[in-house]
Amino acid sequence: MSYGTNSTPNLNSHKYYEAFAPQYDVVTGEEDREFNNRVAEAVARSQAQGRLLDVGAGTGETILALLRYGIPLSAITAIDPSRGMLNELSPKLPEERIRIVQRDVGDFLTDPKELRQRYDLITCVSCLELIQDAPSILGGLAGILAVNGVMAITYVEQTDPSISKQIMRAAFDDAYTLHYYPEEIIDNSIAMSGLTTIFKQRVYAYTRRPPGEAPQDVMYTVQLARRFGAAED
Ligand SMILES: C[S@@+](CC[C@H](N)C(=O)[O-])C[C@H]1O[C@@H](n2cnc3c(N)ncnc32)[C@H](O)[C@@H]1O
Repeated sequence: MSYGTNSTPNLNSHKYYEAFAPQYDVVTGEEDREFNNRVAEAVARSQAQGRLLDVGAGTGETILALLRYGIPLSAITAIDPSRGMLNELSPKLPEERIRIVQRDVGDFLTDPKELRQRYDLITCVSCLELIQDAPSILGGLAGILAVNGVMAITYVEQTDPSISKQIMRAAFDDAYTLHYYPEEIIDNSIAMSGLTTIFKQRVYAYTRRPPGEAPQDVMYTVQLARRFGAAED
């Protein structure tokens, strides 16, 4: 189910990121780093640590932000369907520290071997808006979150189609379908998965603007949720 999309995509996001990968860090640079810093700051405050799963890892900027904020990560798994994006990530992180999985998160969550793993921290930054059924993906991810683990996500809430189309053009050049998720849908999905929201903040990000046009920021929500319970693993 989709709760809102822009109307004129000309590529799907997988093809887009494959083509965009070599320029991703150059083009999104500071903005991407700044946004990931906001997420990492919140994760640091939650005191999450241990085994990380980073969904939609891209060029690795989320993982690098977590490391910059001193979050102790004992193992890192990075998943992303784009070989091009992962090729940019690899040189940034020592091979022995990271397991790289080139896979769509939906496929990942159907693999019995992967479903046996447990993670203390699951991050999904600037990615849910590319996923058609984020609520069910969140449910799947919650299932592999360890007791006392934290899930940190970001999502785009914009629902006014006229505004969202402008934002879309400014931020992503109308390149692919963007999915919007109202707060209640995400909140429900988190609660139904047995997690408790522990942090929520609105953040304006990716303030790219076409020359001559007014600034058009994208409003994201950064949300953290914990699986409370007695330790078992
Ligand atoms: C905007 S980038 C964000 C990368 C990184 N998290 C960051 O903040 O810099 C979005 C990434 O999500 C990935 N992605 C898109 N659809 C995905 C899916 N279904 N499963 C996993 N990753 C996906 C894209 O390939 C891309 O690398």
